[in-house]
Amino acid sequence: MWVRIASRGAFTAHQTLHCLRPPSFSPAVVARFVAFSSSSAMAMTKKVGTHNGTFHCDEALGCYIIRLTDKFAGAEIVRSRDQSVLDNMDAVLDVGGVFDLEKDRFDHHQRGFDQTFGRGFVTKLSSAGLVYKYYGPEIIAKELSLHVKHPDVDRVYIALYKSFVEAIDAIDNGINQYDVTDPPKYVDNTNLSARVAKLNPDWIEEQSTQKENAAFMQAMELTGKEFSEALRYQARSWLPARTVVANCLASRFEVDKTGEIMVLKEFCPWKLHLFEIEEELKLEPSIKYALYEDERSKQWRVQAVAVGPGRFESRKALPLPWRGLRDDELSKQTGISGCVFVHMSGFIGGNKTFDGALAMARKALELP
Ligand SMILES: *[C@@H]1O[C@H](CO)[C@@H](O)[C@H](O)[C@H]1NC(C)=O
Ligand SMILES: *[C@@H]1O[C@H](CO)[C@@H](O)[C@H](O)[C@H]1NC(C)=O
Ligand SMILES: *[C@@H]1O[C@H](CO)[C@@H](O)[C@H](O)[C@H]1NC(C)=O
Repeated sequence: MWVRIASRGAFTAHQTLHCLRPPSFSPAVVARFVAFSSSSAMAMTKKVGTHNGTFHCDEALGCYIIRLTDKFAGAEIVRSRDQSVLDNMDAVLDVGGVFDLEKDRFDHHQRGFDQTFGRGFVTKLSSAGLVYKYYGPEIIAKELSLHVKHPDVDRVYIALYKSFVEAIDAIDNGINQYDVTDPPKYVDNTNLSARVAKLNPDWIEEQSTQKENAAFMQAMELTGKEFSEALRYQARSWLPARTVVANCLASRFEVDKTGEIMVLKEFCPWKLHLFEIEEELKLEPSIKYALYEDERSKQWRVQAVAVGPGRFESRKALPLPWRGLRDDELSKQTGISGCVFVHMSGFIGGNKTFDGALAMARKALELP
């Protein structure tokens, strides 16, 4: 795939650079990129403009994302601040002072710009967030091979914004992670925005437009690779796990009439999904215990659900008299045979069988 970059605004000064097959993206997208390198297709290649000079994470990612759409597949990236050049672009990102979806103008620097992702997110958007907001569903639908209106597309769309894109918007807009007046105790210089910033030619290096454009290509590849990886994780790991947890929650009353015990029929990362789905569906009463089989020991675990994400305290820890006991001593205390252990803090316990673990959970619910 070829991408050309206008160096000084005029198209006569194009440099042609190798790059930008999205790193192992879904076959459909790759096929389209290849198709666009044919000469007849080249003639109708769209142009996406962004500013020249120092670049940032947001327009690098924005340029990558917009090229994943059908409309801008294989588009040429043109870097310039010359308005007459920008006026001839099919899309303009991060420069030009205009946000206009109809015209594919995606600047966020102008006075009065107040776009956020919505859906509960209040962080002001960068050019990456803007492009993602409007073209994200199409890109995600392609990755999932689903219709754009499928609810799973929407789930991944929100999850990917929350887990990946929002931080780029926030850092670009200088929004702190926490409301604190003290300076942070340490700095993490390895966030994606920081790594993109470091790709800019250093001041001690010789400055050239060519070098800067080549570095911008690298920035697009870096941000694109991480975006694609994050999307793939959401599609192949996060979403299936969510489906497992949602199904287990739906059948919770078949496990116990209280509806407070969930059985994971298939082990997967379940905690965050549980909190999210409970909140989404306003589940009452909340789940107190999750039962699942430990792969290695083939024993069953009964785990007390924490009060919230990232918290250690349990909603209803296993009973105090059981804690720290093992095997026969524990079985005697619980009155349930085959008990294996209950952790000192009461957040987890085990029985040799599913029925044993369920009996432990039921008894724990009854005890104060
Ligand atoms: C950006 O491009 C313009 C022409 O479009 C040129 O005059 C200017 O020097 C360039 N700026 C930087 C920082 O390279
Ligand atoms: C990201 O990296 C930059 C540059 O090193 C740093 O100043 C900033 O605090 C980091 N931001 C976050 C949210 O970690
Ligand atoms: C707990 O596991 C043991 C060992 O398999 C089993 O004998 C016992 O019946 C289980 N407890 C219950 C209540 O099923």
